Amino acid sequence: MSIRRLPEHLVNRIAAGEVVERPASALKELIENAIDAGAHQITVKLATGGIDLIEVSDDGTGMSPADMALALERHATSKLPDDVIEAVATLGFRGEALPSIASVARLTIESRIRGAEGWARQVDNGALIHEGPAGIPPGTRVRVEGLFERVPARRKFLRTPKAEYAACLDVVRRLAMARPEIGFALEHDGRLALNVAASPDRPARVAQLTDRALADNSVAVDLEREGMLLGGVAGLPTFNRGIADHQYLFVNGRPVKDRLLVGAVRGAYADVLARDRHAIVALFLDVPSDMVDVNVHPAKTEVRFRDPALVRGLIVSGLRRALDAAGHRSAQRPDEAALSAWQSEPLLPPLVGRDNWPEANRSRFSVNDRRPTFLSPPPQARGEPAYAPPPEPIAFPLGVARGQVAQTYIVAEAEDGLVIVDQHAAHERLVLERMRRGMAAGVIAAQALLLPEVIELDEAACDRLDARIAELAEFGLDLERFGPRAMLVRSVPALLGQGDVTGLVTDLADELTAYDEALSLKERLDDVAATMACHGSVRAGRVLSVAEMNALLREMEVTPHSGQCNHGRPTWIKLAHGDIEKLFGRR
Ligand SMILES: Nc1ncnc2c1ncn2[C@@H]1O[C@H](COP(=O)(O)OP(=O)(O)O)[C@@H](O)[C@H]1O
Ligand SMILES: [Mg+2]
Repeated sequence: MSIRRLPEHLVNRIAAGEVVERPASALKELIENAIDAGAHQITVKLATGGIDLIEVSDDGTGMSPADMALALERHATSKLPDDVIEAVATLGFRGEALPSIASVARLTIESRIRGAEGWARQVDNGALIHEGPAGIPPGTRVRVEGLFERVPARRKFLRTPKAEYAACLDVVRRLAMARPEIGFALEHDGRLALNVAASPDRPARVAQLTDRALADNSVAVDLEREGMLLGGVAGLPTFNRGIADHQYLFVNGRPVKDRLLVGAVRGAYADVLARDRHAIVALFLDVPSDMVDVNVHPAKTEVRFRDPALVRGLIVSGLRRALDAAGHRSAQRPDEAALSAWQSEPLLPPLVGRDNWPEANRSRFSVNDRRPTFLSPPPQARGEPAYAPPPEPIAFPLGVARGQVAQTYIVAEAEDGLVIVDQHAAHERLVLERMRRGMAAGVIAAQALLLPEVIELDEAACDRLDARIAELAEFGLDLERFGPRAMLVRSVPALLGQGDVTGLVTDLADELTAYDEALSLKERLDDVAATMACHGSVRAGRVLSVAEMNALLREMEVTPHSGQCNHGRPTWIKLAHGDIEKLFGRR
């Protein structure tokens, strides 16, 4: 077999395999071109998640008819005047996006330089089918229709229009975040999905694109080290989310997806955020061009840092400093040594056989010599003045409630010691077990809300919930689509009590992205229960009455596996009388 050069249209199709993976990747290239052309306003129109139509209009420099012809040739670019790839300041530079897209779709470019006539050029899967004058305002409009229509092997890898749309929205969001000085509008299937006006205020732009409340719940990040500059916004630890979908990194103005960010954010928030919660961050890193290589991936979404550890350190320090300065660092961490003095029983067997219970457990109580050192600051206890203890406290394995500490822990007196219960962890576990029983019996009772509640979410979140409406109803959560960006809640699972409905639905929408679409919610019962319980009536931070506390203790005693929470941590700990005596030197 002799060697031959591949024909140009084949080369383009092969390149298209790398650059144009799905509508979102084509859209990304087109918006980047508009940004590189100096646009002040970029308007995107999509149909069917971008599969049927992607249209990007800009008011940038425009192209002459001759340049339009060149732009459709492979490796033709106006962006590397000096042939120095390392110094490239534009988003594009490879000169392969337009010819690649044109080889797998119908591509129409209309463009006009200010003061000149407009011109159009149309290519159908690699072949020029039309060119001529076009009436268009100064700037460029590129339309991509029928992506992969003639490449069935690629078309079949496209996901549902909803999923493709979600990916497109993510692309627009990231680029709009990178360039607050440019106005962006996005229309999908004739509906306006996003519209942000040009503004120099970057934190405001980030809030508009993630969560409007972020503006009041974030701190500014600003740190310089060894020629690198880190700026941006970091959400307060308390303003967290169920998934890490709002963590953005921009390197030299370019949105990148880098695993380094995930780890660094986790590290920075480690002691102020629960492991299963995620912060919102948008970080803008400016590094000298010799410290980063952007040309490692055809779609340029990945970068390679010369010294990743240095970058990671910068991000962790930048975030920590910002959070510290805001005074929101958690000061609540107990001394580790103090904890070891306490009896903890994470793997408690089911507590159903009450009679043999105290015996079985007492034998496992360990005696520990170390004194707790955390008793110095007075705990925030809450007294119950009118409280009269029930006649026989000792009858209960977990004792009777004597009070609540820090609105989070129930302190109870048992026959053989002092019990402390993490009310939230325990409640979460009880909710899961109640759900299991409900599922086994075929129903989970719903409690109708007095007034249906309208919850505003982004469109992709509403779509995810929408797709699971029937399943969520089985959990007692009755939802209804309420316009493109809102859900109506009619009832909530009765076993939650009157909790925080907005938080519940918002978190569920988040969680659904993490769930495998092929799995039913019943198969993800543990996760659903955990999310729901987080918004039930017995949250950490809620003041409980003595009756409520005792009810919780009694339910724990008869619920299987109630000794550990859904994440494997203990729900209660006990200090035996003998241990207390030791701590006071009485033994
Ligand atoms: N929206 C636009 N406005 C002005 N010029 C454009 C636009 N889109 C593309 N071009 C021109 O077409 C060339 C080729 O674009 P592309 O194939 O995306 O390659 P690259 O962006 O890597 O240069 C660009 O270098 C630019 O000169
Ligand atoms: Mg380009």
